[in-house]
Amino acid sequence: MVLKDKVAIITGASRGIGAAVARNLNGAGMKLVIAGRDADALSAVAAGLNDSVSVVGDITAPEMPAKLIAKAVQAFGQCHVVFNNAGVMQLGPTEKTDIDKICEMVRINTEAGFRMAYTAVKYFRSVGGGHLMSTSSVLGTKVRPGGGAYAGTKFAIEALSEALRMELAQTGVKVSCIEPGIVETNLCDHLEVHPKKVFNVKKALDPDDIARSVRFILEQPDHVLIPRLLILPAEQGI
Ligand SMILES: NC(=O)c1ccc[n+]([C@@H]2O[C@H](COP(=O)([O-])OP(=O)(O)OC[C@H]3O[C@@H](n4cnc5c(N)ncnc54)[C@H](OP(=O)(O)O)[C@@H]3O)[C@@H](O)[C@H]2O)c1
Repeated sequence: MVLKDKVAIITGASRGIGAAVARNLNGAGMKLVIAGRDADALSAVAAGLNDSVSVVGDITAPEMPAKLIAKAVQAFGQCHVVFNNAGVMQLGPTEKTDIDKICEMVRINTEAGFRMAYTAVKYFRSVGGGHLMSTSSVLGTKVRPGGGAYAGTKFAIEALSEALRMELAQTGVKVSCIEPGIVETNLCDHLEVHPKKVFNVKKALDPDDIARSVRFILEQPDHVLIPRLLILPAEQGI
């Protein structure tokens, strides 16, 4: 896809991976709808972009996916890419598990991720094409002790994405997952033991490393699809 003047929705764009992807795709000439709950952080990201509109709100609100598509169409006439990225991570041993936090993670990562995915592909079908890309994880295909619930939310996104990819193969709608290992963002700030320590990773990925990979997937010609891209810090021996 030639990205210049195409339109992307990016959820979880207020920081971390989503913000880096926003900067990269905007640098390639894409027009953006960026979303997140933190209005100040979203404004700070928007200040560094051209041709972007912001939508502040919780991605778990059932109306949010349709609102984002409507915003893209209203502001820019169409939507070509949905980067389904908003997410949280809860890890830890069973005895320290807060089931309410786990269920909140399921609502954000899986329920809202599913709503965004179905809303996007229905819209893409109606206009004859588009690309849905979801941020999965290296834990979208593997598990580790203490990470079962988080991995479950990402396995679910992988399963849905794979089935949608097959279902839509003849339609011009592309479906992909990006599967990062440890990325230097705020995602793990609340954890007692950072995954970098667990895996003895001195240099994690930068959000810009993920942004380059996302752009690589999107820039493939029409006849090429990269359904999954696993990207790890070289030191992460998972
Ligand atoms: N960092 C890693 O090591 C890593 C590895 C593999 C996969 N991932 C995945 O990458 C994605 C992005 O994570 P990140 O590392 O960039 O983390 P981050 O820096 O914490 O960013 C998370 C983003 O998600 C948004 N978000 C979270 N809950 C939301 C909600 N209820 N409603 C709307 N937006 C919400 C946040 O926005 P607000 O706070 O403004 O709402 C923020 O923009 C996640 O899906 C994560 O699972 C991360």
